[in-house]
Amino acid sequence: MKQEVVITSGNLNQAPMGAFLSDNNVLLHVFEGSHTYENLKVDKFYILNICSPYLVAKAVLDDDFDSEFLNLDGKKIPYLKDAYKILLIEVTGRKFVEYKNIYGKSKLMVVNGINISESVLNDDYSPYSRAEGALVEMAVIYSRLGILNGTKKQEAYLNMKIFMEIVKKVGSTKHLELGRRFLTAKL
Ligand SMILES: Cc1cc2nc3c(=O)[nH]c(=O)nc-3n(C[C@H](O)[C@H](O)[C@H](O)COP(=O)(O)O)c2cc1C
Repeated sequence: MKQEVVITSGNLNQAPMGAFLSDNNVLLHVFEGSHTYENLKVDKFYILNICSPYLVAKAVLDDDFDSEFLNLDGKKIPYLKDAYKILLIEVTGRKFVEYKNIYGKSKLMVVNGINISESVLNDDYSPYSRAEGALVEMAVIYSRLGILNGTKKQEAYLNMKIFMEIVKKVGSTKHLELGRRFLTAKL
């Protein structure tokens, strides 16, 4: 199963990513073009943050997150202060493949890793919110706008607007603010 997490890496970078977790193994599919791709191409460690869907969605926009650092042999690795749990992942292998889908061809780095330590930071879980689910879907669409053109881009934007209706119906001020930030994307 693929689960949505925030990957923190490099000096101070965060990005939502899908992660395949099984036992202590972690598999990421990282597309070329992101800071995470550049960091994980060379870094030996990164942090997988298990956090609220709200933080997953927000991570696509901001790199000014509330961060802390893990000190590893003098190297500081960032993580989300508000994550529920963080896993320190050691990269054990990388494979570079060409990936083709409806959006075209892209270069993909398959990153294998192993969970070498984990810490629970917060146990203040909140019940599932449809507003947060809708914001994650808006974030996914938002992150693809850059590779879409013409009517495909217009359609994607309209889909974000449909998810925004859910945010308006059941979200709080912070949810509405994040949703509005996605809708300010330039077409
Ligand atoms: C929920 C969610 C899941 C995502 N999963 C992936 C993924 O598995 N691989 C990937 O390359 N990009 C994924 N993205 C897109 C990246 O998060 C996006 O390209 C981001 O801008 C990269 O940030 P960075 O440049 O700071 O690394 C996902 C986006 C969202 C919202």
